[in-house]
Amino acid sequence: MTVSKKFPQHFLWGGALAANQSEGAFQKDGKGLSPVDILPDGKHGRKDALAAPLKALKTTYDYYPSHESVDFYHHFKEDIALLAEMGFKTFRFSICWARIFPNGDESEPNEAGLSFYDQVIEECLSYNIEPLVTINHFDTPVALMVNYGGWKNRQLIDFYLNYCQVLFKRYTGKVKYWLTFNEINMILHIPLFGGALDISEESNPDQVLYQSAHHQLVASALATKLAHEIDPTFQIGCMLAGATYYPYSCNPKDIWAAIEANRTNYFFIDVQSKGYYPKFAERFFKERNIQLEIMPEDLETLATNTVDFISFSYYSSRLTSDDLSDKESTEGNVFASLKNPYLERTEWGWQIDPLGLRITMNDLYDRYEKPLFIVENGLGAKDILEADNTIDDTYRIDYTRNHLIEISEAIADGVDCLGYTSWGCIDLISASTGEMSKRYGFVYVDRDDNGNGDLKRYKKKSFTWYQQVIASNGEKL
Ligand code: BG6
Repeated sequence: MTVSKKFPQHFLWGGALAANQSEGAFQKDGKGLSPVDILPDGKHGRKDALAAPLKALKTTYDYYPSHESVDFYHHFKEDIALLAEMGFKTFRFSICWARIFPNGDESEPNEAGLSFYDQVIEECLSYNIEPLVTINHFDTPVALMVNYGGWKNRQLIDFYLNYCQVLFKRYTGKVKYWLTFNEINMILHIPLFGGALDISEESNPDQVLYQSAHHQLVASALATKLAHEIDPTFQIGCMLAGATYYPYSCNPKDIWAAIEANRTNYFFIDVQSKGYYPKFAERFFKERNIQLEIMPEDLETLATNTVDFISFSYYSSRLTSDDLSDKESTEGNVFASLKNPYLERTEWGWQIDPLGLRITMNDLYDRYEKPLFIVENGLGAKDILEADNTIDDTYRIDYTRNHLIEISEAIADGVDCLGYTSWGCIDLISASTGEMSKRYGFVYVDRDDNGNGDLKRYKKKSFTWYQQVIASNGEKL
C-alpha cells in the first residue's frame, strides 16, 4: 500500500541516535564515565542500579551494554554514509559531555573528544545533512554526581554553560539546531539519566527533583541566551517526552486526573516556552512541601530567553484515571499507562496510537504556538536477520507510515512542523532495558543482548521504504 501525503517543501526528514546508546568506546580518548556506563543490562539488575546509582557505581557487573554498544565511535563514517543513502536531510545525535569535560568541572575541554565530533559534523555536512545536536541526552558526567550531587547542586549550571560555550563557539556556522536537554521531564522519572541524581536516600525526593529541574530550566535559558549571542542564527529547542494523557472515561474525575497528569509534562515546556512558572505549580509545590530556591535573577532569565522551537518524542499516548486500583496497566516510555482497549501494543507493551501523535501535536501547538520538531518516534521490535542477510520489518514500515500520515494531518490542521527524526535509525541499546534486541533502526547491527556479534550493518526492508518517502517528500508513504 502506498499513501500520498503533503509535507512542507523544506521538511527535515531524518533519524536520531544518542551518544550514550550508540557510541561505545566508553573510555577512549580521555572520556569520563557517563551514567549509562555504570549500568548493567536488564537481566543483571538495571532497574535496581537506576534506583540507587551510587551503590551501582561500587558494584561490579558481568556485562555493561554501553561500553562497546554499536560502536558508532568507530563506525560513524559508514553509518552516516548509510543515512545519506536514505536521503537524510537531518541527523540528530548527541554530544557526550564526559568526552569534552571528563569530570564535568574542568575549565579546558578535552581536544580529543572535540575532534571526534568535528569529524561527525564534517561528515554530515559533506552529504548536506543538517546536524541536529542534543547537548545533553541523559549524559551528565558521573563525576558530577559523585563530587557535586548532580543537578541538585546549582554549580552545575556554570559547568553546563562552560560546556555549551565550547560547543557553540566551535560549531558556529556548522550546526544550526540545538536541543538543550533530552526529555527534560524525565528527570522526575529517571533521576540518574535526567539529572545525575541519586535520590535513594532523600527524605523528600520531590524537593530534590524540582530543585534540580529548576537548575536545568535556568541552565537551558542561559544556554539559549549564550547561543543567540554567539550566533543569532542558532535555533534552540527544548525537548519533551511527549504524549497526551487521555482520561479513562467521561467521568469528570477521570478528566481531572488527565488534566493533572498532562500538567506534570507541560510544567517544563511552560517555563521554557512561555518563560514563567505556570500558576498551577504554586498549589502543586505547596501540597508536596516543595520550596524552590530561586535566585532573584532567575525569573528574568527565564522570561527573556525562551526557546525558538519545541521538540518532543512520541511513542504512544497515555491513559489515566482517578482510580487506578481496579484497572490494568501496560508498559510505556519509562512509566506505565493504563491499558487502552482501543489500541494494540508492541512486544514491550507500548501502546500504538498514531492518531495520538496528531492529538499531541495539536495540543502542543495550541498551547505554545511555536514550531514543533518530532525528534523521536519509532517501533522497538525484535528483528530477524535471515540467512540471505535480509530483514523483513514490514511492521516497522506500517508503524512509521501510520505516524507520518497523522503528522501530515496535523500539518493540514495548521501545525507548524519543522521535521521528523525517527528514533534509533541505526539499531542501538535500549535506554530502559539495556537490550540490543529491542531494535528501532532502518539499519540492523549484528550484535545481541550478551554483546556477541561482529557489529556489521545490514539494510532492513524499511531502509528502502524510508528512502522513497524522503525522495518523494512524503508523497510516497
Ligand atoms: C526516549 C529516550 O525516552 O525513549 C531514548 O530519549 C530512548 O534515549 C527511547 O532510547 C526509547 O526507549 P527505550 O527504553 O526503548 O530505549
